[in-house]
Amino acid sequence: MIYVTRREVFSSSHRLFNPKYNEEENNLIFGKCNNFNGHGHNYILEVVVAGDINPDTGYVIDLKMLKTIIIENVIKKVDHKNLNMDVDFLSGIIPTAENIAVGIWDQLKDKIPSGNLYAIKLYETENNYVEYKGE
Ligand code: NI
Repeated sequence: MIYVTRREVFSSSHRLFNPKYNEEENNLIFGKCNNFNGHGHNYILEVVVAGDINPDTGYVIDLKMLKTIIIENVIKKVDHKNLNMDVDFLSGIIPTAENIAVGIWDQLKDKIPSGNLYAIKLYETENNYVEYKGE
């Protein structure tokens, strides 16, 4: 088994809050991330595909193909968008890095033509990232 990774970047805004809490509770839980007019991040997304090497090509998956799949199914939907309002697969979801990573997994899991989707890594800041491997 070998692991192949494609990295893409996108910039988005969001606001973290839960409508079932009042303003004071949301400020307590989410702090600055609850800023009413939102704030932005330059996200780094890493998509890891696991599989065997195809002896005819030497590839697990053609990275140019993986790049196109990520751009068409994820980056075009999230880049320069408001994650609370503009993204179909995040509708009604608090757009934390955790929830965005799960959403991206669901966007890609059935679209990988060779190998299997192994992990989504999403860096929200230099120091904070989440990793999701399905389930
Ligand atoms: Ni944030």
